[in-house]
Amino acid sequence: MVKVTNLTKTFSLNRKQLKEKGIKKGAIIAVNNVSFEAKSGEIFALLGPNGAGKTTALRCIAALINADSGNIFLDDINVGTMKNEARKKMCFLTNELKLDDHFSADYLFDFFGKLHGLAQETIDENKKILFKEFDIEQFKHVKIGKMSSGMKQKTAIAVNLVHDPEIIIFDEPTNGLDVITARAVTDYLAKLKKSGKTVIVSTHIMSIAEKMSDRIAVIIDGEIAINGTLSEILDSTSCENLDDAFFKLYKERKKTDE
Ligand SMILES: Nc1ncnc2c1ncn2[C@@H]1O[C@H](COP(=O)(O)OP(=O)(O)O)[C@@H](O)[C@H]1O
Ligand SMILES: [Mg+2]
Repeated sequence: MVKVTNLTKTFSLNRKQLKEKGIKKGAIIAVNNVSFEAKSGEIFALLGPNGAGKTTALRCIAALINADSGNIFLDDINVGTMKNEARKKMCFLTNELKLDDHFSADYLFDFFGKLHGLAQETIDENKKILFKEFDIEQFKHVKIGKMSSGMKQKTAIAVNLVHDPEIIIFDEPTNGLDVITARAVTDYLAKLKKSGKTVIVSTHIMSIAEKMSDRIAVIIDGEIAINGTLSEILDSTSCENLDDAFFKLYKERKKTDE
């Protein structure tokens, strides 16, 4: 279970952002008082346009950056104060994960397994499952630099799952993937969910949220506009599909900004 309460994260604007806005000093509230709960055995989606705050929220949950305020709990672990315990329980995946070109999948899996303090027996067990899942087995001794881009991405995902985490956070799971690799990834996330894990994904693609997830939180300008199952969202917006519901919420939100 992941419980996020009143999460807020502000960034000082960088030079490029200041220039764009024509100001000398300023900050942006990337995530503004966000609360939601993702339960074990479900896929929870943060759905929002570019710049909505999805990656920032997920990076806070994954203990990669510190929130300004709010609480994040992974079961009974407080991410703010127990970062190491939190990291043992979860993994943060994106399709920008990079592995060193000079090593093989087999070597890197063992290497990261040992970094996590796992016994070789456990590493071997997890390796067998993940390499089978992502069809890495026959390429496991090939150096990363010699792999196809799809195989590289699948290997990076497998290596990051070496510790069989309870909580899987995936920022834009299908971004930049060819259709076959994207399918392997979404199928695997569905399996993780079935086995009782907590899966949180972010996406800007309606159909991904609609197809993959059990519950959806729509995030716009750092704030949660709505949170519920697809049918709850459709009911409460009186819309027939998620696309329409999203644009309705988006327009309402922009109106209040004016
Ligand atoms: N390190 C940073 N420094 C300054 N602004 C940032 C930083 N990271 C994100 N932002 C800003 O925060 C907002 C949310 O970004 P992000 O979380 O990446 O959104 P999303 O993942 O939904 O596209 C954007 O306006 C972005 O420009
Ligand atoms: Mg993002």
